[in-house]
Amino acid sequence: MKSIKKYLVAGCAILASAQLSFANEQIVIQTDSLGMVLTVGDNGRLYQSYFGKRLVNPADYANLTGGTEVYLTNGMEDYFEPALHINHSDGNASTLLKYRNHKVSSIPGGKETVITLSDPVYGDEVRLRYKSYDKENVFVSSTEIINGGNKPVEIEKYASSMLHFDAPEYYLTEYSGEWAAEVKPHTQPLYYGKKEVDTKLGTRANMFVSPFFQLGIGAPAQEDSGDVLVGTLAWTGNFRFCFEVDNRGKLRVISGINPYFSRRSLKKGETFATPDFIYTLSSRGNGEASRNLHDWARRYQVKDGLGDRMTLLNNWEATYFDFNQDKLISLIGEAKELGVDMFLLDDGWFANKYPRHSDTQGLGDWDETADKLPDGIGRLTAEAKKQGVKFGLWIEPEMVNPKSELYEKHKDWVITLPNRDEYYFRNQLVLDLANPKVQDYVFGIVDNLMTKYPDIAFFKWDCNSPITNIWSNYEKQDQQRLYVDYVRGLYNVLDRIAAKYPDLPMMLCSGGGGRTDYEGLRYFTEMWPSDNTDPVERLFIQWGYSQVFPTKVQCAHVTTWNRDASVKFRVNTAMMGKLGFDINLHDLSPEELSYCKQSVKDYNSLKPVILDGDQYRLVSPHSGNHAATAFVSKNRDKCVLFAFDVYPRYDEKLTDVRLKGLDPSAIYRVEEINRFDGSKGEVKTYSGDYLMKVGIPVFSTGKLSSRVYLLTKV
Ligand code: GLA
Repeated sequence: MKSIKKYLVAGCAILASAQLSFANEQIVIQTDSLGMVLTVGDNGRLYQSYFGKRLVNPADYANLTGGTEVYLTNGMEDYFEPALHINHSDGNASTLLKYRNHKVSSIPGGKETVITLSDPVYGDEVRLRYKSYDKENVFVSSTEIINGGNKPVEIEKYASSMLHFDAPEYYLTEYSGEWAAEVKPHTQPLYYGKKEVDTKLGTRANMFVSPFFQLGIGAPAQEDSGDVLVGTLAWTGNFRFCFEVDNRGKLRVISGINPYFSRRSLKKGETFATPDFIYTLSSRGNGEASRNLHDWARRYQVKDGLGDRMTLLNNWEATYFDFNQDKLISLIGEAKELGVDMFLLDDGWFANKYPRHSDTQGLGDWDETADKLPDGIGRLTAEAKKQGVKFGLWIEPEMVNPKSELYEKHKDWVITLPNRDEYYFRNQLVLDLANPKVQDYVFGIVDNLMTKYPDIAFFKWDCNSPITNIWSNYEKQDQQRLYVDYVRGLYNVLDRIAAKYPDLPMMLCSGGGGRTDYEGLRYFTEMWPSDNTDPVERLFIQWGYSQVFPTKVQCAHVTTWNRDASVKFRVNTAMMGKLGFDINLHDLSPEELSYCKQSVKDYNSLKPVILDGDQYRLVSPHSGNHAATAFVSKNRDKCVLFAFDVYPRYDEKLTDVRLKGLDPSAIYRVEEINRFDGSKGEVKTYSGDYLMKVGIPVFSTGKLSSRVYLLTKV
C-alpha cells in the first residue's frame, strides 16, 4: 500500500501516475473533524470505505478498506438505484468506472480533491469533485460526466453525489409544506427500499418540499446530540434526493438534479457538470450541523456573505397595487422617519397598454405606468436620495402575463404548449430562458433600469410561477433539455448581472420560499422565506430554514398579519432575521411607532451578533407553547436571546432556559432590552457556567408575548 501521507499534503497538486497499479490506493479527504476514505479495489474500481469522524492517527486509515462503490453506475452487478446512467449509441446502457488518477489542490478554506474515473470500453469519463472546508467541516461534491467515446451518448441519471452509510437505523427529516406554510419538519425511519424527496417545479426548487434534509444515523438526530448528515442541493430547479436501504441494511444517498424528463445527449468530447451537493456531518446533532453550514455559507457561498444587510420599508402590504407617485413619496418619508436604510417599491409600478393594477396583466412590460408615476422611477430615487434612504425595486423578469405587450410581440419566447389551452399559475407564464435571446432580454431589464436609474440600490427579484404547459420553441429538437437549460439560462443572466453590477444587493423571492437554495444565494444577498408573515407562523418557518441557512439571508418583515399579536411580538420575530417593515405606519399608534423606531436602532446595534454570530436554537416552537433562540458573537462577549410565549395554558409550569455557546468562565451582565415602553430592564449578573447549567426564567404565561435579552461579558 502506498503511503497515505502522500495524499494528505495540502496546498500542492498531486497527480497519481497513470502507469501504476492502483489497487488499494487510498484517497483521504479530511476537514478538522471529518474524514472520508475512498479506496481503489483490486478490480480498479473506487469504493467509499469510510465517512465519519476524522481519525486521530492517520496510519489507522490503512485499516479501512472495501465499502460500497462510490458512484454506482447502471447496468452492472449492483441491483439498486444508480448515481449514473448512460445510454451508449449501440444500445448498451451499462457503464463501468475504473480509477485513473486524482489531484488535490488548495481552495480558500480547504482543499479540492478531483478524482477521475473512466470506462475502459466506452471511454466515458467521470470526475468526482470534493471540496472540503477545514474549519466548517463542510463538504461540497459535484460530478462532471464527459463523453470520451467517439459517438454521442445519452445521460439519463447524473447525480451530484452518492454517499453510503452503514448503521442499524436511519431517520430522515424532510421539510415539506405548501405556499405560505413552508418547511414543516417530518421525521421518518427508513427501512428496506427507496424514499425519494423531489420536486418538478422547473423555475424553483421549493414549494412543497425544501431542497435539504437531515439524516439521523443510528438514531433520530436531536438538537445537540446524535450523528446527523445535513445536506442541500445548490440548484434553483428540479431536485431529487433518493434514500435507498439495500438488502444488507446499508443506506445509499443520491443527490442531484431530478432526472425526471431531463435526459440529455452529450456529443463526443462534451462535458456535463452537475450542481453542488453541500453537506456536513455532525456527531453533536442538528445544532452544530446548522452552525457549520451557516459559517460556510457566509464565508464561501452567499453573495456578500460577510457584508452588512439593509433594513427596509416595503410598500407591498401597505398599498398592494394601489399607489401613485405622491403616495410613494410619502412612504419614502416614512422610511426615513422609521430609521430604516431603504425604501423598497414592490409590484405594480409598470406597464402602460395593460397597466399593472393587479396580478392579471402587464407583467413583461417594464416601463413605468405613466399615470401612476408621471415622473418615472427617477423622481423616486431622487426623493430617496433627498431623504437619505436607499431605493430598491421589485421585478419579476422571467415571467409574462398573457395580457401584455411582450406576449403579443413574442409568444415564441413563452413556455407554452402550441396545441393545448394555456394553464396559468397566478395568471402568468414563464419565459423560455433556454433561449439566449430571452436571456438577453431578461438581463436587459436590470441593465436598462440600472443605466437609466443608477441610484437603484437593490432589487427584489420575484418568480411567482413554476413552469406550466412545458414546451419550448427553442428546444424544439429535444424538449427534455428544457428543465436543466432553463436554470442554466437563469445563471447565465445572473452571471452577467454579477459581472456588471458586482455590488448590487438583491433579494431572491419566489412567491414565498420557492427559491431557497444555495446556488441562487451565490447571486443574492438574501431570500424571502415565505409570503406568510404571521409572526407565530414565522417562528416555525424561520426555525425550519435556520437548519440550513443563516439568519443573515432570511428576510423577515413586520406586517399586519395576525393582529392578535402585539407590534412588539411581530417586531421581535422579525428581528431574528433580516429586519424589514411592510406596514402602513399610519396604522400604528404613537407608542407603537416609537417602539418600532427604537427597535430599528436596537436592531442596528445587535445586527453584528444576530447576523454574524452563532445561532443556538434553545426551545423549539414545535415543542410546546414557547420558543427561544440565542445568537452568540464569535468571541462570546455578547449574546442576544429572544424568548416567545405563544399560547401558554393557564397556570402553565414554566421552565428556565439554559443558554448555550457562552464562555463558562466569564461573567455576563443580563438585561432585558427592547421593552415596549422604553423602560430599562432589571440587570443581573451570572457566570456563563451558571447560565448554561442552570438557566434563567425568560418565559411568561402571557399570550403572544416576547422579550429580548442582551448578555454582555463584564
Ligand atoms: C409575491 C411576493 C410578494 C410580493 C408579490 C407581488 O407573492 O412573494 O412579496 O412581492 O409577489 O406581486
